[in-house]
Amino acid sequence: MAFQTITVDIEDHVALIKLNRPDALNALNTELLGELCTALEAADENDKVRCVVLAGSDKAFAAGADIKEMSEKSFVEVFEENLFASTNDRITAIRKPIIAAVSGYALGGGCELAMMCDFIIAADNAKFGQPEINLGVIAGMGGSQRLTRFVGKSKSMDMNLTGRFMDAEEAERAGLVSRVVPAKKLMEEAMAAAQKVAEKSQLSVLAVKESVNRSYELTLNEGMLFERRVFHSMFATEDQKEGMAAFLEKREAQFRDR
Ligand code: CAA
Repeated sequence: MAFQTITVDIEDHVALIKLNRPDALNALNTELLGELCTALEAADENDKVRCVVLAGSDKAFAAGADIKEMSEKSFVEVFEENLFASTNDRITAIRKPIIAAVSGYALGGGCELAMMCDFIIAADNAKFGQPEINLGVIAGMGGSQRLTRFVGKSKSMDMNLTGRFMDAEEAERAGLVSRVVPAKKLMEEAMAAAQKVAEKSQLSVLAVKESVNRSYELTLNEGMLFERRVFHSMFATEDQKEGMAAFLEKREAQFRDR
């Protein structure tokens, strides 16, 4: 597939998708979001892909939704097109894990896009923020919802009300990102993490993603039941037999996704 605003490379079972609008700090316009969703859906369908890494440039993961594109829109237009709804729905429907590798700015829709991924590895120069308030609007792709679940009400209010940026160290402390690495090592670390995921049984990987995501939607008891039933169901797989036998025989497991 030929894309204008992203690049896609598939190597060793990992699809690396890079946002590629350098002149606009990877601002998320309609074309980019459409191409990104198409590429993610293609990766999800592709048997050769077992994990996805989503990255931007060194300077910006993405500086937000494209302000130029939005600035003249009316309420009726954004309401009728249900702006950003399909992006959210299409990305969150992807079953394979997506790791966000964030360097530089992840602002507004950029921060929200990173939060739609399954975990975030941040370079030490990363800056997260929900500065939509400076534009006379509020976040529209999860900045008031997902960010609050990640970092709690006080920090989320602070970010959304003042529009201030959070550096990588604060983001790690607050639980927004899973790890911080030197900027020069970001892609190496993200690809290595993806490789680790790719080595596992795909059945377990998909089950982990479904179960962890359920924790956002269910009560603790319902979530525990969901997890336990999924855990029980893994005993129907050959990979469970292989994984446990390999441990007992002190060898590497050879998973076959069966
Ligand atoms: N949309 C469109 N273009 C953008 C953009 C955006 N979100 N962010 C940056 N750009 C463009 C700039 O207009 C500029 O283009 P020109 O050279 O043609 O003027 C180019 O990218 C480089 O940007 P700057 O010159 O501003 O670079 P800087 O290093 O001085 O500043 C920045 C970097 C602090 C990230 C600054 O660009 C900035 O504040 N960007 C906007 C951040 C923002 O408000 N994001 C929220 C968008 S709304 C949203 O995302 C809604 C939602 O929830 C879905």
